[in-house]
Amino acid sequence: MSVAKFKQIAKTIEARIESGEYPKGFKLPTHRVLADELNTTPATVAKAYQLLVDKKRVESFVGRGTFVCAPSRLSDVIQPADDETDFNFSILQPCLSQNLSPLRDAMMNAADHLSCHLMGYTENSGHESHRLAAVTWAKKFGLTGGNVNNTLLTNGAQHGLSLLIHTLTEPGDTIAVEALTYPGIMAIAQAAGRHVVGVKFDEQGMCPDDLQQVITQHQPKLVIVVPSHQNPTGITMPSVRRDAIATVIERNNIWLIEDDIYGFLNPDPIAAISNRIPLHSFHISGLSKALSPALRCGFLKVPESHIAVLQATIRANIWLSSPLNYIAATQLIESGEAFELAENQREIACKRQQIARDILSHDGNESGFQIWWPLPQQWQQERFVMEAKNQGLIVSSGRYFNANGDDPKHIRLSLMAINSEQRLQKGLKLLRDLARSDVSSVIPF
Ligand SMILES: Cc1ncc(COP(=O)(O)O)c(C=O)c1O
Repeated sequence: MSVAKFKQIAKTIEARIESGEYPKGFKLPTHRVLADELNTTPATVAKAYQLLVDKKRVESFVGRGTFVCAPSRLSDVIQPADDETDFNFSILQPCLSQNLSPLRDAMMNAADHLSCHLMGYTENSGHESHRLAAVTWAKKFGLTGGNVNNTLLTNGAQHGLSLLIHTLTEPGDTIAVEALTYPGIMAIAQAAGRHVVGVKFDEQGMCPDDLQQVITQHQPKLVIVVPSHQNPTGITMPSVRRDAIATVIERNNIWLIEDDIYGFLNPDPIAAISNRIPLHSFHISGLSKALSPALRCGFLKVPESHIAVLQATIRANIWLSSPLNYIAATQLIESGEAFELAENQREIACKRQQIARDILSHDGNESGFQIWWPLPQQWQQERFVMEAKNQGLIVSSGRYFNANGDDPKHIRLSLMAINSEQRLQKGLKLLRDLARSDVSSVIPF
């Protein structure tokens, strides 16, 4: 079999995907049909399909065929769903039913305080009082060294991640991440043509020795770590591990993005990794998980060397993050109410973790929004996700979190998106029963 031939066929298929001839979800022709069309052998087509599976352009299911993946699979893994009809275990957001009225009041209050100054254009990275509020927020949860000059405002943490990845790396560069990580990072990397390599982790988070090995082997320019209540595993890095990761970053003279969007969930603040290596690190925090993702408030603390370039990039891309939401957010932070709301979410999360431990008999985390649930042996991951969906249970397949492309045989369950505790219990019991059921008793797809 010619090596060039299967690569050529893979390219032809990719061109058909790009052109829309093979849209998302499209079932690719059988090996034989395509082999006849392209005047080659079924074995060559099979090899081309495998190459595209490795590149995550298509996915294969035994007995069903090979299908085109979405260009970004974020929409598959994180699915907003109607709380009335479905049980949404997919989306990691704060429990909003109880906290809506303080947010509504803050928005109304913000409207009452509009001024010409706040409604006009301002400096690149937002009003000073809003940046000061961002500094206050991040400091409360373990970040030192932030000030109104080195703190920038973004449209949520995702915007911050995207901004930093584009600024700190170039197409073709490699980024090291936790081997299981937030799919939003991989979506940015994929769209921007950056490679992602997973670093092993244990119960304390990313392993420093493996990080060193990955740096030696792959020479990433950037390492991204989620140190608190990591998505998806829920692991929180203790101080000693944070020190060790900082040492590796500094020794190799590369960049760190510390995405601490879940830092407010720690019962006591843990000093940020960025405190140890301020010249090498970019710290992200924000209000999406503690208050509401609709605020789109993300905060970046950056080294002095990068303030100007990041301000210029924000200006070039969006001019500035909408000050309207920041007016409300600033009021909530200044009054202390934002911290009460965050604490409230932490308490809800702890209570829901207990409920999930009881129902699923799962040795999960004490706190945090999600559980990383191992599936019983008899279940194949995608089949479980699909069967759960048939029952109105929307869960996130573990494979979307895997930076190295293996099948982790877990699913991620968010415990916070379902508004009432009663419905949460009902949904968890349905999931438990499904997991325990005999896989052959459910209708095959
Ligand atoms: C680790 C991590 N970073 C960033 C985000 C996105 O946050 P935002 O809504 O502020 O963009 C998420 C959302 O799930 C996340 O889990």
